[in-house]
Amino acid sequence: MSNTIAGLPADIDQIKGFLSAAEGQALYDSARQASALGPVLEIGSYCGKSTLYLGLACRELGGTVFALDHHRGSEEHQEGEFFHDPDLFDSAEGQMDTFREFRRNIRNAGLDDTVVPVVSDSLTASRHWQSPLGMLFIDGGHSLDAALTDYRCWSGHICRGGILAIHDVYHDPHKDGQAPWGIYQMAMASGLYEKVQQVDSLAVLRRL
Ligand SMILES: C[S@@+](CC[C@H](N)C(=O)[O-])C[C@H]1O[C@@H](n2cnc3c(N)ncnc32)[C@H](O)[C@@H]1O
Repeated sequence: MSNTIAGLPADIDQIKGFLSAAEGQALYDSARQASALGPVLEIGSYCGKSTLYLGLACRELGGTVFALDHHRGSEEHQEGEFFHDPDLFDSAEGQMDTFREFRRNIRNAGLDDTVVPVVSDSLTASRHWQSPLGMLFIDGGHSLDAALTDYRCWSGHICRGGILAIHDVYHDPHKDGQAPWGIYQMAMASGLYEKVQQVDSLAVLRRL
């Protein structure tokens, strides 16, 4: 495991997002290994915090990150909800818009040639997707329906030896993240994956 990440913005703590430094490092290390097998696809980019870690790893190896998000926020980001950020609310449109902030963060990190934004709902984008993936990172909607859609529509594209990473996997049922825990259990029960590591709430699996 590396301890330093070349090109990581000095103000990474100021970038809006939901990722610990240890989880970011684990995403970076995983993407460095997996990007030799194929592109990385992330579901749920928000303002690009996780995308930065994935993108910096892929840039080193000439790889690509597809960063998928409709940029309208999950349930918990909407007005009146616990994780709502009024700075990310487009009052003219009357809805959340994280894409502007996402693009700024990607551009400032020099990752425009590495990160391909896919501004879409996960299910819609999956319909015609055909490329095998070196790594899939699931951090989209946390309802059971959304998590199941992400797992069912995208995990079949992970190539042998590739990585499936899932965020907000908590073994404690009183904590948030029971849908991510549910798809983590499905993946393990399928017999198709081995566990690589768990870092904070990030579970990292390898496709056998
Ligand atoms: C928890 S945030 C992602 C956090 C991000 N990975 C980070 O490092 O800060 C979840 C994101 O998933 C997106 N999202 C939720 N449901 C989605 C769906 N069905 N399709 C695409 N994006 C979705 C939301 O817009 C939101 O930006």
